[in-house]
Amino acid sequence: MKQQSTNSSSQWNKTRFSSRIGIEYPIIQGPLGGLSTQRLTATVSNFGGLGSFGAHGLTPSAIKDVIDEIRALTSKPFAINLWVSMEDEGARSSGSEAFSRSLAPLAGHIHALGGTLPTFKPYVPIKFEDQVRVLLDAKVPVFSFIVGVPPREILDECRAQKILTIGTATTPDEAIVLEQADVDIIVASGFEAGGHRGSFLFPAEESLTGTFSLVPQVADAVSVPVIAAGGIADARGIVAAFALGAEGVQIGTAFLACDESGASALHRNAILTGKAGRTGLTKGFTGRLARGVQNQLLEELNRPGVEILPYPLQRFLVRNLVTLAEENRNPELLQLWAGQSANLSRQTDATALLQTLTSEVSAMADRVLSWNRHPDSQSLR
Ligand SMILES: Cc1cc2nc3c(=O)[nH]c(=O)nc-3n(C[C@H](O)[C@H](O)[C@H](O)COP(=O)(O)O)c2cc1C
Repeated sequence: MKQQSTNSSSQWNKTRFSSRIGIEYPIIQGPLGGLSTQRLTATVSNFGGLGSFGAHGLTPSAIKDVIDEIRALTSKPFAINLWVSMEDEGARSSGSEAFSRSLAPLAGHIHALGGTLPTFKPYVPIKFEDQVRVLLDAKVPVFSFIVGVPPREILDECRAQKILTIGTATTPDEAIVLEQADVDIIVASGFEAGGHRGSFLFPAEESLTGTFSLVPQVADAVSVPVIAAGGIADARGIVAAFALGAEGVQIGTAFLACDESGASALHRNAILTGKAGRTGLTKGFTGRLARGVQNQLLEELNRPGVEILPYPLQRFLVRNLVTLAEENRNPELLQLWAGQSANLSRQTDATALLQTLTSEVSAMADRVLSWNRHPDSQSLR
């Protein structure tokens, strides 16, 4: 295991990761594809963390606008996040019959909410290569990604432009592949995390390692800094992640609950009022395995026999229903993305959340170290 540069309690924030990126606190606000906002990203970066913007669903020109807007709000480092793999096999050939079969379990709800049924439209892909070109031309400070490893020439260009890269691993093997590709920093994303599994070597269903098991294995397997993600929502989680060998954390759901995020009031409410105590995994929301609050929509789409379109077609299809559910204020038919620790979310202001996290981690780090130094105590080392 690599030695972290943290050498005293007041220095918990000084890790290879924070110094490499040039940030005060080794806390990443996880990219929230579809629910990111420029304001949330900039707020976290201005505090001294690393704000991220999940841009995988945006066209290249929209991504360019987002980068300009973030830069107008902060001069600190920030990350733009993309998905290396943008579609699943069969997406381009999927036709109107498959569309009708997958629409069937949603049709009754769409009618009941006063909507009209969508019709099949051919899929128009957005290409990862076109999106990443915008990031390279704009020389963003940090490029983070999931669901794969970008082609060598893109990573080479990042290095030449001094764009730091953060890849995501859901297994130790994926972390090794990312390090072999010379990715600068690796997020070890445990099964507890909200949103999609970013697996790329094996199917997501076979890559469900929990954070507590994954982080030390990844820290042992690679020499680049490791960031723990999945189920971390308070200072206890951060301290535990550091004890497991992480040099930073990536937090998604607790930031999703903040007013600055792009989540609707219904969604934030579900996270903050205890309704997110039970989460589940489903392919039904988008076609790829993802975690959200166990509500009626998730349960119905997980029923045996329900046909799911390949990613991202299922995402486009389900959007027809959730837009109506949002208008009708029905949380049971929303995609309530959330991780397993959603119930630990308390704060609705991103700056207040960061203040709480950083001051509590400092106090906790002091306590752990003083316990360690006490002559009568059992050493933790
Ligand atoms: C709504 C939502 C969208 C997400 N979108 C992305 C994304 O586009 N790219 C990515 O790398 N991670 C994405 N994530 C994962 C988060 O960035 C983060 O790693 C994860 O939420 C951490 O686990 P937690 O939810 O337990 O805090 C998303 C998570 C959520 C909840």
